[in-house]
Amino acid sequence: MKTILVTGGAGFIGSNLVQLLLRERPQWTVVNLDKLTYAGNAESLADLRSDPRHIFVRGDIANAELVEHLIRSHDVSAVLNLAAESHVDRSILGPGIFVETNVSGTQVLLEAARLSKVNRFVQISTDEVYGSLGKTGKFSEDSPLKPSSPYSASKTAADLLALSYGHTFGLDVVVTRCSNNYGPYQFPEKLIPLMIANALEGRKLPVYGDGQQIRDWIHVDDHCRAILAALEKGVKGEVYNIGSDNEWPNLSIVNRIIEMLGKGAIEYVKDRPGHDRRYAIDARKAHAQLGWSPQIPFAEGLQRTVDWYVENRGWWERVRTGEYRSYYERNYGAR
Ligand code: NAD
Ligand code: TYD
Repeated sequence: MKTILVTGGAGFIGSNLVQLLLRERPQWTVVNLDKLTYAGNAESLADLRSDPRHIFVRGDIANAELVEHLIRSHDVSAVLNLAAESHVDRSILGPGIFVETNVSGTQVLLEAARLSKVNRFVQISTDEVYGSLGKTGKFSEDSPLKPSSPYSASKTAADLLALSYGHTFGLDVVVTRCSNNYGPYQFPEKLIPLMIANALEGRKLPVYGDGQQIRDWIHVDDHCRAILAALEKGVKGEVYNIGSDNEWPNLSIVNRIIEMLGKGAIEYVKDRPGHDRRYAIDARKAHAQLGWSPQIPFAEGLQRTVDWYVENRGWWERVRTGEYRSYYERNYGAR
């Protein structure tokens, strides 16, 4: 019996993670702390509504009193910190909230974890902390940290703060740095779900610049299994790159989606300022130390994802109309 605090558990990766944890570790209880920002969707957790092992709390990771209370009152043994502002384009339009949540929020959580002596803190970081690669090479855990966007800079700060709590206070911290995720319940502002939803609605598919930027894609379930492995098998103070050896230029992803759906028209739009050209992950350390490896081949994972968006049109349509924002009140308000 263990109680785990997952933050950001109503987001894309968090909601997939909560489902996976309760499936793979049926004896565990998950306390899910999420502020329900625009990116948080309680509807993604609807299947767990009557599951007593899932305790959903709407709140901010930057609220020290709340966080300390949750950790102590539920006797939390480990924290998995996924709560974040996560979209690069939004961080260019308004960086402030990225510092508040990703940096200050993470520090509040670390402090509460330290004071309450939790056994392990897993900081969910990103390969974007390493910046951009040229045509060759991959990021290793020792690559220099050179974040380019306010998003990746704030995630780098959080990642280093987490490691500093390990060095300075002896908190048991593990950091994971994963590449781009895809799969069900991803907010349709990110490349893959945006392109699927736009094609299904007959809108143009906006490709930034020349579309030759490269990302290294991993299915969200493979990432979530890596987080569980980091929690259970990670070595205190270590950093683990997580990736699937699956590099593709954006344009070829968009073309595959058009092919799978049998519709969709590309529109080349202005490039993102400071756009990173290429990401690629060397995940050999995670294979060796965590005994983890990705299981889902890209062709299969992408097809399943496209099918999910086709079959769950209501989910993303309610996101697009904004209707999902009232789901929490409708569903939980009366209790
Ligand atoms: P997301 O935007 O889908 O979800 C983020 C969640 O955090 C939302 O539910 C939101 O409501 C919640 N949240 C935001 N601010 C909060 C706050 N102050 N307090 C409590 N909750 C708050 O993001 P995601 O794609 O699921 O990413 C989850 C984590 O994984 C992030 O830390 C992100 O940096 C990291 N990550 C993402 C990817 C990716 O490809 N999506 C890759 C590597 C790492
Ligand atoms: P995104 O999903 O925002 O993830 P990240 O920027 O964190 O890697 O974008 C993935 C890639 O797709 C990135 O190179 C930017 C590009 N992109 C587009 O070309 N058009 C779009 O509308 C979006 C959202 C992204």
